[in-house]
Amino acid sequence: MGKNIAILASGNGTNAENIIRYFREKGTARVALVLTNRQAAYVLQRARDLDVPALYFNKGEWADGRPVLQALQAHGVDFVVLAGFLARVPDNVLHAYPQRMVNIHPSLLPKFGGKGMYGDRVHQAVLAAGEAESGITIHYTNEQYDEGAIIRQYTCPVLPDDTPDTLAARVHTLEYAHYPEVIEALVQALP
Ligand code: GAR
Repeated sequence: MGKNIAILASGNGTNAENIIRYFREKGTARVALVLTNRQAAYVLQRARDLDVPALYFNKGEWADGRPVLQALQAHGVDFVVLAGFLARVPDNVLHAYPQRMVNIHPSLLPKFGGKGMYGDRVHQAVLAAGEAESGITIHYTNEQYDEGAIIRQYTCPVLPDDTPDTLAARVHTLEYAHYPEVIEALVQALP
C-alpha cells in the first residue's frame, strides 16, 4: 500500500487541488486528508469535490495540536504538505513528522520570507525591491517561519511591467509544475 499524504492549506487551494490530481493520476501516493485553519477556505470545497476527506480545526485546536495529530494518525498520514498554509504548525505535530513535512514559499528564500510574508505580500515586496528574478522555494518545515532546510528552488524572471498578479501567476505556474514531483520523490524515499 502506498504512502498517505495530508495537505494543510488556508485559502484558495489551487496547489492542493493540483497535488491531489497529480497523485490520483500517478498512483505513487495518495492524498488522504486536507486540513485547514479557516472555515471559509475554498480548499474545503475543492477537497469535497474531489472526494478527499477535509477537516477544519479552529484556532484553539491548532494551538493545542492534539486534535490535529489525532486526525493525521487516524488517516494513516505518513507525510505532510503545506500549500498556502498560513498558521503555525504546533510543535507536537511538527515533532511527529521529522523530515516528513514540507512547505512551499513563493519567493527565493531567504529573501522575502518570514512571518506575515505570504501570497501577494511576497510578490509586492519582490516588485518593490526591483528584483530581476523570483521563484519558489520548497523546504522542510521547522519551528521558524520559512527557515527549514531548503530542498529545491526554481526561478522565473520578473518582467518590467509585472504587477503582483502577473508575477503571482508566473510563480503559481512554477508551483504547479514542480511541487508534486518534489513531494513524490520525497515520499518515495521514505522507509
Ligand atoms: C502559494 O503561492 C504558496 O506558495 C503561498 O500561498 C499560495 C497559495 O495558493 N504560500 C505562502 O505564501 C506561504 N508563506 P493556493 O491556495 O492557490 O495554493
